[in-house]
Amino acid sequence: MTNLNECLSATGVAMNKELERLLPISEGPEGRLQAAMRYACLDGGKRLRPFFVLQTAQLFNVANQAALRVAAAIELVHCYSLVHDDLPAMDDDDLRRGRPTCHKAFDEATAILAGDALLTKAFEVVAAPPTHSDPAVRAELVLALAEASGDRGMVGGQMFDLMAGEITMDVAAVTRLQNLKTGRLIGFSCEAGAILGKAPHQQRQALRAYAHDVGLAFQIADDLLDIEGDPEKVGKELRKDAEAGKATFVSLLGVERARAQADHLWRQAAAHLDVFDEKADLLREAARFVVERKL
Ligand code: IPE
Ligand code: IPE
Ligand code: MG
Ligand code: MG
Ligand code: MG
Repeated sequence: MTNLNECLSATGVAMNKELERLLPISEGPEGRLQAAMRYACLDGGKRLRPFFVLQTAQLFNVANQAALRVAAAIELVHCYSLVHDDLPAMDDDDLRRGRPTCHKAFDEATAILAGDALLTKAFEVVAAPPTHSDPAVRAELVLALAEASGDRGMVGGQMFDLMAGEITMDVAAVTRLQNLKTGRLIGFSCEAGAILGKAPHQQRQALRAYAHDVGLAFQIADDLLDIEGDPEKVGKELRKDAEAGKATFVSLLGVERARAQADHLWRQAAAHLDVFDEKADLLREAARFVVERKL
């Protein structure tokens, strides 16, 4: 685990530096918007999605600058999703990453705009020439990120999540919801390295399968943390899902079976990486970390 912990904290440092660079503050009223964007992105989070980009990119010897930019882009989308998820109209949360949520630190309108601008910034970063010398690779990344983020990805999942209290939900429905809400962005994170490295089909498929299982395991862990986590450690308000009457794996299966499912999923995820050598060891470890994390 030490190796993985070291790598995650190195990822955090690198990501902060890259995001600092990508999010300068201008003179004038838009400076307030940029301050809110920086507040939502800098100094926090596990940086798991950037970790997946950087680790999958190194499997294919992708240039560091390219990988860092795509890692920053997915973190920008993720941070935007959190800013909007926390708004009063959505989950109405006051705490995120151990600090007041963006709309509490600023105001609701600024938080909405900051989310909008973070999403847009992500596409600006991916589309810009320093991300890859081949424009076809940049276009493929833009397409994949758009598909993962929009109505057939994360945002669609957020809609599904809001409606989950009113629909009869079974395990298949929760699996689909969580794949949209969380899985698709994790899927992009794991596939981005393969796109950047023009990886062969079989290896890209392996990463896709890994991401599918890790994504699901990740969301089961989030649901478990919501019930049994320590809010101090997790840095966000907990016990919200049951309160909101949300169907989750935990509400449908109970804690024990949900944990068993998450355990099965991380092992299965790691097994998908058999096509890679020891260069994928940190990704194997990360599958387990995703389930056993306390934050
Ligand atoms: C939280 O994601 C939101 C979900 C998709 C469940 P993370 O647990 O990755 O949050 P940070 O980035 O570490 O704060
Ligand atoms: C939010 O899911 C996922 C996205 C922002 C796409 P949750 O509402 O479960 O995330 P937390 O628990 O607030 O981090
Ligand atoms: Mg939510
Ligand atoms: Mg939430
Ligand atoms: Mg949650």
